[in-house]
Amino acid sequence: MKIIPRTKPSSATLPLVFFLSQKNAIRRIPLFGFLNPMEREYLEQIKEQADVKEKEAKVFVTPGNARKIIVVGTGKVSAGIMTGIAMRIAVQTAKREKINSFGFWAGIPKKRNGTKKFYEAVAAHAAMANFEFVKYKTPPPEGFPFVEEIEAITGKPSKEIAEGLRRGLIIGEEINACRELANTPGGDMTPRALATHAVAGSEELGIRTTILDEKKIKELGMGGILGVSKGSVEPPRFIIQEYMRGPKTKKPIVLVGKGVTFDTGGLNLKPSSAIYEMHMDMSGGAAVIHAIRAAARLKVKKNIVGLVPAVENMPSGSSYRPGDLLRTLSGKTIEVLDTDAEGRVILADALSYAKTFDPSVVIDVATLTGAAMAALGQRYSALFSNEKKLGARLCAIGEETGDRAWPMPLSADYEEEIKGTFGDVANVGKTRYGGAITGAVFLWQFIKDDSPDSTQNKSGKPAKTIPWAHLDIAPRMTTIEGEYLAKGAAGAPVMLLTRFLEEYSS
Ligand code: BES
Ligand code: ZN
Ligand code: ZN
Repeated sequence: MKIIPRTKPSSATLPLVFFLSQKNAIRRIPLFGFLNPMEREYLEQIKEQADVKEKEAKVFVTPGNARKIIVVGTGKVSAGIMTGIAMRIAVQTAKREKINSFGFWAGIPKKRNGTKKFYEAVAAHAAMANFEFVKYKTPPPEGFPFVEEIEAITGKPSKEIAEGLRRGLIIGEEINACRELANTPGGDMTPRALATHAVAGSEELGIRTTILDEKKIKELGMGGILGVSKGSVEPPRFIIQEYMRGPKTKKPIVLVGKGVTFDTGGLNLKPSSAIYEMHMDMSGGAAVIHAIRAAARLKVKKNIVGLVPAVENMPSGSSYRPGDLLRTLSGKTIEVLDTDAEGRVILADALSYAKTFDPSVVIDVATLTGAAMAALGQRYSALFSNEKKLGARLCAIGEETGDRAWPMPLSADYEEEIKGTFGDVANVGKTRYGGAITGAVFLWQFIKDDSPDSTQNKSGKPAKTIPWAHLDIAPRMTTIEGEYLAKGAAGAPVMLLTRFLEEYSS
């Protein structure tokens, strides 16, 4: 899909979208001025029919089949997140009507600051709404009804608008690539396939990708990853991506993504209904891969590392068992009490590995717990952080972009609940309460430096804790009704991470 800024519509028949708020009259939308007198008269006549409710779309055809008009209701709001939703509705309506190109009024709204970001959102949401997972579908004879071109009619040329749209499209495309990856069935999206996907095209973007195979994972001593992958005929992979475009002296931002390509639960097998959709249990990994790609395509001048431990969690004669004690890269042992709490087990190794980069900040992203969904529903990811400012920043970006996260408690008090009986840490809590929190507290044990000499470093100063945040994205793994997006993977939190990568400075 392309979004092209234009001073006026390219043709007299180009379908047009009018975003109509309750306060506005259709004739006051500048796009109205580009219509011919007959079209204007028609729209004036049907004024009442064209009066759309919030989030509603109506389609009209001007006399003589001249031009299709889509009117999208924006209610009282004509700002913020509504822009994204309204754009999604417009694109989805266009797809349904088999309209493959349209124009909309994109002149700079009054009182709008941050013009570039506004257009970024417009383009990103348009691209997101245009996505459908059709890789496995036979195309109809006339092809899939995607929108190919959107004309952003601006009245006068503006560099800022063009730049915002260009950037938004990149972000939208990477979100969609993440969705495509996550939607791909588990039979095809194995740890090896995920690694191959990470490699493909990364070098051209200045991303150095290294794939560790099973032998190397063993050599390093990543017992968590090895343990979880034991039951599968698919060997594990550890994906390392380095995009180092910042000053040499700057410590990198490290992103870590859960890459469970299929989660059956292992020997603690999930019930049938819960296994469905578990091919998307690598959504965190997919988001990390594509957030780095977005940053690279946006030419962000930062040092960024992405780590994705990729495994398949299967029940078999060779599976890891409840009661197993796994020695992780950190040296700590994990007491496996439930093979279905596998994400934290592989992330333990990845977080320890993250530390070897001397990171300025570490963010892990994982479809970690059903409990996060129980707590928050499906509209917010759960956010945990050992640094207030970092957590607040991520939540603020979430609100700004609509790719939202809500803060949850991280307190050492909970450590009691994951103390192992025969190992250092147990992979589930003692009760079933606060499952998202115990998951986060478990991960915390592998980022925290609690070795005996950790209170002081060589220079005698207190050791600095690594700022870390954990995003449990299970709540936002899939799209929901009313988001005006195709069924399946939601692509969270690519938008959030991309913005973070651009803005964060340690
Ligand atoms: N991948 C699941 C969590 C999940 C559930 C993600 C639903 C998205 C949608 C994770 O590995 C898991 O099974 N977690 C267990 C943890 C429990 C055994 C402590 C859960 O949430 O039930
Ligand atoms: Zn699981
Ligand atoms: Zn899982």
